[in-house]
Amino acid sequence: MNSPLKTLSNISDLRQELASYRSEGKKIALVPTMGNLHQGHLRLVEEAKRHADVVVATIFVNPLQFNPDEDYESYPRTLEADQAKLASAGCNLLFTPSVEMVYPQGQENQTRVLVPGVSEGLCGQKRPGHFDGVATIVTKLFNFVQPDIACFGQKDYQQLSVIRKLVEDLSFPIKIIDVPTHRTPEGLALSSRNGYLTPEQLAKAPTLYATLKETAKQLATGNTHFNELNHQARARLAEQGFAPEYVEIRNIDLSPASLNAKSWVILIAARLGKTRLIDNLIVQRDSN
Ligand code: PAF
Repeated sequence: MNSPLKTLSNISDLRQELASYRSEGKKIALVPTMGNLHQGHLRLVEEAKRHADVVVATIFVNPLQFNPDEDYESYPRTLEADQAKLASAGCNLLFTPSVEMVYPQGQENQTRVLVPGVSEGLCGQKRPGHFDGVATIVTKLFNFVQPDIACFGQKDYQQLSVIRKLVEDLSFPIKIIDVPTHRTPEGLALSSRNGYLTPEQLAKAPTLYATLKETAKQLATGNTHFNELNHQARARLAEQGFAPEYVEIRNIDLSPASLNAKSWVILIAARLGKTRLIDNLIVQRDSN
C-alpha cells in the first residue's frame, strides 16, 4: 500500500480511519516511537511493511516513562522531519496524540500496567517506574490501534522482554516482531540520545559495542566466569571514560546466567558525560 502519509492526533479519528482498513480485511502493523526518528526506526517501518498492509507509526514522548531527573522536557521533538522520513519509508498513518489525550485524568490518576520479573533489575533498577510507564503506554497504544503485529527494536532488549510478557499476560492478539539493532559502521547502536553526544564522545561511543564483542568472544569460546567477564567489561569502559551503570550477562529470558545455557545476552548501560547509552548482544555458545 503506497498512499501518502496521513497524520492524525485524535483517537476517534484514528479509530475511524483504521475501521475502514479493517473492514477491507487489511492487516495492520504498529510501530510505536517517541519521534526524533533515525534509520533504526525506519528499519522498524520496513519490517512492518513486510508483515502488514497498513503501517501505523506513533510519535508520543511519554512522560510516564521518564524519571524527574531525566530528559522529558528536552527530549528532541522533530515532527516535520519525522513526517518526511516516515513518508519516504512508506508508512501510511502517523498518530501523534497530546499528553492530555492519552492521560485525560492526569498522570497521577492513570491506571498503570506493571509487568513483574522482567521489569526488575538492569534498567528497571536504575530507572524506577520506567517500565511501568512503558507498559502502560504500550497497552494504551495497542488499544488505540488494535494492530495485528507490532515492531520493536532489539536495542531495548529489556523493554522487548517486558512487552512480550505484557502481550502474553494480558492476552493481546498481537504478534511482536523484534528488529535487529541498526549500527553505525563503527558499531554504535543508533539512538535518539546519540544526538546529545559531543564529537569527542561520539568517537568514543563505539567502545560500548567493542566491549560487548570482546565479552561475547570470551563467552562463545567457553569462558563462563560471568562475574569476572562483567568486571573486565566495566573496567574497560571506565578506562575509556564511561561511567558504567551495569554490565550483566544473563540468559536470553533475562534470568541469571546459567553455565549450561546455549546462548546468553550481554547487557550494558553506561554514561558518557551526561548521556546514558544502552546496548546488548546475544551470544551463542560455540558448538565445537
Ligand atoms: O522505545 C521507545 O521509543 C518507547 O519506549 C516506546 C516503546 C515508544 C514507548 O514509549
